[in-house]
Amino acid sequence: MAALDAGLAGRESQKRKAILFSIGLILIIALALGLGLGLTVGRKSDDDDKDEPPAPSPTASPPPRAKWKPAVGDKWYIMLQADLGIITTEDVKVIDLDLFDRSEEWINGLHKNGKKVICYFSAGSYEPWRPDAGDFKDEDIGAVMDGWPDEKWLRIGSKNVRKIMAKRIELAHQKGCDAVDPDNVDGFQNENGLGLTAEDSVAFVKFLSATAASYNLSIGLKNAGDIIPDVLDFVDFSVNEECVEYAECETFQAFIKAGKPVFHIEYPVIENTTEVGWSTTTVQKYCSHEGNAKGSEGFSTVLTTMELDGSIQYCD
Ligand SMILES: *[C@@H]1O[C@H](CO)[C@@H](O)[C@H](O)[C@H]1NC(C)=O
Ligand SMILES: *[C@@H]1O[C@H](CO)[C@@H](O)[C@H](O)[C@H]1NC(C)=O
Repeated sequence: MAALDAGLAGRESQKRKAILFSIGLILIIALALGLGLGLTVGRKSDDDDKDEPPAPSPTASPPPRAKWKPAVGDKWYIMLQADLGIITTEDVKVIDLDLFDRSEEWINGLHKNGKKVICYFSAGSYEPWRPDAGDFKDEDIGAVMDGWPDEKWLRIGSKNVRKIMAKRIELAHQKGCDAVDPDNVDGFQNENGLGLTAEDSVAFVKFLSATAASYNLSIGLKNAGDIIPDVLDFVDFSVNEECVEYAECETFQAFIKAGKPVFHIEYPVIENTTEVGWSTTTVQKYCSHEGNAKGSEGFSTVLTTMELDGSIQYCD
């Protein structure tokens, strides 16, 4: 026992020495850095060195904000690719825009006009043009997405992928978004080349939800009809594409029953290119609650183009 105590005491004092040494080292480094910075700043002001990038201003964290809960029937507008300026249309309450492409000032502008902002990013696909694309590892990148030749499925259970997505959610918080719209969480319903399962998607959505919750951000479930019962309690709204086209709107009624909106998009073909927008017949087909649109009661529906270029047709 005594020997053990002595051993422990010895280790304790070694530890203390190590700590003191570390503190000393940190002080020396800090001093060196301080001097270095001082010299750099001095040289810059003297020589006006234009090659040096300006020092980044410290990113101030936005003030704490309560979580926004979207309501069933909220009118919305989605413009991922469009640069249409600030939407001021009175009855449109919610705007879904691209997290990376739109600035904090843009989002502020929408807030000043009383809008809530959902920030879109792809959580489950690799997009080579994004600023953080270099952070992904080759082993986490799977098959090319059907219909989106520039994107590939991601291994959503990967620690590294999750780290990148957590940073994207933090960026949404920094930019002042009210909610996030993480796309492509339904790899298991597609050829993904990574063997992704429904369980993988459930776990991933719960991870995204917990991360968003730490910033008081609302979060949507994009498509992924098969896992609604597993994750409904962890998300605040649905973003659905083409449930009328595929006659599956009833699947998403679970959201309406839970008091959560379904932000619903259809991409009808504009048959007559000499006319602006869609024909009355087309609008009827996608909006009336008969036929394929059965089960879309209460949804916040928009008709738009596949390019999400800002063309919008509402049902009312
Ligand atoms: C989240 O909301 C709670 C309650 O409204 C608040 O106390 C907290 O500071 C908020 N957190 C953030 C990160 O805004
Ligand atoms: C397309 O729209 C134009 C302008 O409204 C109309 O004159 C034309 O007949 C339409 N064509 C068809 C095939 O419906």
